[in-house]
Amino acid sequence: MKRTVEPKVLYFGTPVVLISSCNPDGTTNLAPMSSAWWLGYTTMLGMGTSAQTVKNLVERPEIVLNLVDPDMVAALDRIALLTGSEEMSESKRARGYRYVPDKFAAGGLTREPSELSGLDSVQESPINLEGRIEAINEIGGPDSHLCALEMKVERVRVREDLLMSNDRYIDPLRWDPLIMKFTEYFAGGAPAYPSSLARGWQMPPMVSLTSPGPGTP
Ligand SMILES: Cc1cc2nc3c(=O)[nH]c(=O)nc-3n(C[C@H](O)[C@H](O)[C@H](O)COP(=O)(O)O)c2cc1C
Repeated sequence: MKRTVEPKVLYFGTPVVLISSCNPDGTTNLAPMSSAWWLGYTTMLGMGTSAQTVKNLVERPEIVLNLVDPDMVAALDRIALLTGSEEMSESKRARGYRYVPDKFAAGGLTREPSELSGLDSVQESPINLEGRIEAINEIGGPDSHLCALEMKVERVRVREDLLMSNDRYIDPLRWDPLIMKFTEYFAGGAPAYPSSLARGWQMPPMVSLTSPGPGTP
């Protein structure tokens, strides 16, 4: 039996990525996001247009995608409700967002030079994808304030222990991406950490499948 429903979010589970982009003053902004997919050497990124990241990428197309390992989840969550934009929408303010320009410091993450641009990459990320934005399109209609950014990947840097013997492949058994599913963090298919984003979105608490249900004696 199925029911027709209108879920608040359709985040079925995608890898978490930290985007490095260039602020107007030349410093690097860092933003967590998870609406990313790959086809060939193109990445499509779905972002809200109020993000400082989008404002930066409209003006300066250089970008680094820092993929997130489950070991980074606490650092990631420390910057989950931060924005590098001084202007904030009412809905973001209501979700508990704060303006903090230096998210490397706020998260306790380490800067690493990129190879193709002056952007700082994230040293803790086992995989860094460098490139540039080639197109930006509005999506979801005029009131959605959403856009799809098309990135060309120009450089791929991978931690050596994740590579298979001939360097052309990343080992699927050793690479375990942090996944965001309906605003909650998952690793290896299991919940990984309490999510500030879920709190901001007022998501109902997850009930463990193995714990007794409500009203169970
Ligand atoms: C795990 C996680 C995933 C997120 N995924 C997205 C996303 O896919 N698209 C988006 O626009 N915002 C996403 N966000 C919210 C952004 O991080 C938020 O808009 C933030 O303000 C962006 O930072 P910036 O304003 O400094 O660019 C996500 C946040 C977290 C913590």
